[in-house]
Amino acid sequence: MANLLVTHAHLVTFRGGRFAEIGDGALFAKDGVIAWMGPMADLRRADHQGATRLDAKGALVTPGLVDCHTHLVYAGSRANELQMRLQGKTYAEIAKAGGGIVSTVAATRAASNAQLRAATSRRLSALMAEGVTTVEIKSGYGLDVEHELRCLRIARSLAADHAVSISTTLLGAHAVPPEFKGRADDYVDLVCDRMIPRAASEGLASAVDGFCESIAFGPAQMKRVFESARRHGLRVKLHADQLSDGGGAALAAEYEALSADHLEHTTEAGIEALARAGSVGVILPGAFYYLRETKLPPIASMRRHGLRMAVATDCNPGTSPTTSLLTMVNMACVLFGLTPEEALAGATCHAAAALGLDDRGVLEIGRRADLAIWDAHEPAELAAQIGGMRPTQVIFEGRVRQ
Ligand code: NIG
Ligand code: FE
Repeated sequence: MANLLVTHAHLVTFRGGRFAEIGDGALFAKDGVIAWMGPMADLRRADHQGATRLDAKGALVTPGLVDCHTHLVYAGSRANELQMRLQGKTYAEIAKAGGGIVSTVAATRAASNAQLRAATSRRLSALMAEGVTTVEIKSGYGLDVEHELRCLRIARSLAADHAVSISTTLLGAHAVPPEFKGRADDYVDLVCDRMIPRAASEGLASAVDGFCESIAFGPAQMKRVFESARRHGLRVKLHADQLSDGGGAALAAEYEALSADHLEHTTEAGIEALARAGSVGVILPGAFYYLRETKLPPIASMRRHGLRMAVATDCNPGTSPTTSLLTMVNMACVLFGLTPEEALAGATCHAAAALGLDDRGVLEIGRRADLAIWDAHEPAELAAQIGGMRPTQVIFEGRVRQ
């Protein structure tokens, strides 16, 4: 594997989860891993012989971005729902009337493997263009055993022809599919007894997620899903307290979830429980914006309790149709009041933690050499644009991404 030496870089490291910089720095990547980094003045010739050199000329170099919450595998469009919402219908009303998640399920089931893969690949490429080097992809629009596994397989297969790392999550408990209408508990049985065991035994998912909400699954049902995940050795995550306070955060904490996501309606006690459990709070400003929500997530409480905050796209056709993680960084600042440094930590180191990946998201010796190089001098420049910002170069596993 080729070795790479990046010189004269303004390194943003996030070591220990904290914003830190090395003004005129160098970074040596060997076999895809950061073998040395530090001030230019400390760089020794012997350490990097034979390496390809890349002069960053003072540019900002951050960890490669991590999008820790996406629903990239789907077919069809939900543009009609924007019109319905503009006429005053809520997300819950649209879902109850047969729109929402189940309408995307119908379109996704009807799509061929090639169509579904092509649509997902387009969205993945758009994310990558902004410097994303790790993406989480959830299933959740198949909602039967074969279609959920198919979506996970398609998601995993994309790593073969995209220079990106993909982490997959089984979201069988996303909604009750039409064939189980009125029999949510029977569907939960299917998720627990057939979907989770298959996803685990076939190595198709790294975690199990669910939608805990009055229009989806209640805490008792989610508990059964989490018990099954635990039996099969999978960590859990949860869409929690997005539209109402359903006790999702406390439940996620009880199962030491990797993350609890959304959290607009979470109480102080819920935030405290998550922080104590070591979970990450994933904030999703795209969904907040697109659903025209008004209840802000309790950011002050998250800071007070030291809950690590990640920022993600939640890319999906119904509540957050975006493939721009940097726009989410911008929105996290403008709508939720994060500082640019907090938001950038949320799209790098804390996002990696939300996926249980401790080998990335931070620039430090021994971590993966996944980097993004920006024509910028400070993190605020990455947060100050509404879309359109692109890294000048991306390094993935120690190589310049073409
Ligand atoms: O994260 N909240 C549940 N799941 C998605 C929405 C999915 C959809 O509407 O298709 C979310 O917002
Ligand atoms: Fe989501």
